[in-house]
Amino acid sequence: MSLIIALDGPAAAGKGTLARRLAGHYRLAYLDTGALYRAVGVAVMRQGIDPAQESAAVAAAESLSPSLLNDPEIRTEAGGQAASKVAAIPAVRAALLDWQRRFAAQPPAATDGQAMAGAILDGRDIGTVVCPDAPIKLFITASMEARAQRRFKELQEKGAGAIYARVLQDMQERDARDQERAVAPLTAAPDALVIDTSAMTADEVFDQAITYIDRILAA
Ligand code: DC
Repeated sequence: MSLIIALDGPAAAGKGTLARRLAGHYRLAYLDTGALYRAVGVAVMRQGIDPAQESAAVAAAESLSPSLLNDPEIRTEAGGQAASKVAAIPAVRAALLDWQRRFAAQPPAATDGQAMAGAILDGRDIGTVVCPDAPIKLFITASMEARAQRRFKELQEKGAGAIYARVLQDMQERDARDQERAVAPLTAAPDALVIDTSAMTADEVFDQAITYIDRILAA
């Protein structure tokens, strides 16, 4: 049986950290779907075009180069903003949907040659649109302030001179765009377990998630 875990939530809520730990724990392939949108956004930016420009964004999504997924530029704040702009374009989402579903249907084999037991995908619309039949759905959230503080600390630790008020403003803009877009807006699936991580450590979030998942797997 192939296990699919859908993990959604807003920026800097702790999805990536949790997804990587769950992937290791349950031996699942992991797809960070935000990286796909980031790669499309950066590809358009590199052409000197506004990522909100539909025809350029759709062309970039249709010819997405996998090597861009590992490019450090996609991890920048500008990459995140560009991702959120291309993500509001329905034809971009459609182009990336097949890609994500193929991954979930046939997760790549582990590097040691053993078959994986399934896949975990993280993003904004995995439980609602990409894998609506996933047996396990988690929605990881946190207050705007907690998320902005975390992102601010991360940037400081990287040595990137950040201004808290600016980080907070960028986060508010991105949240608004992700929640208000017409197609596949950020929202928890009705059957998702919602975890508010504002006052939790990464270990506590992981423990709560595996307790929930193990209970479903045992049922
Ligand atoms: O998770 P992230 O910060 O890397 O995502 C970057 C942007 O991509 C995010 O602001 C919204 C968009 N996104 C999306 O619309 N749907 C997804 N499944 C994943 C990301």
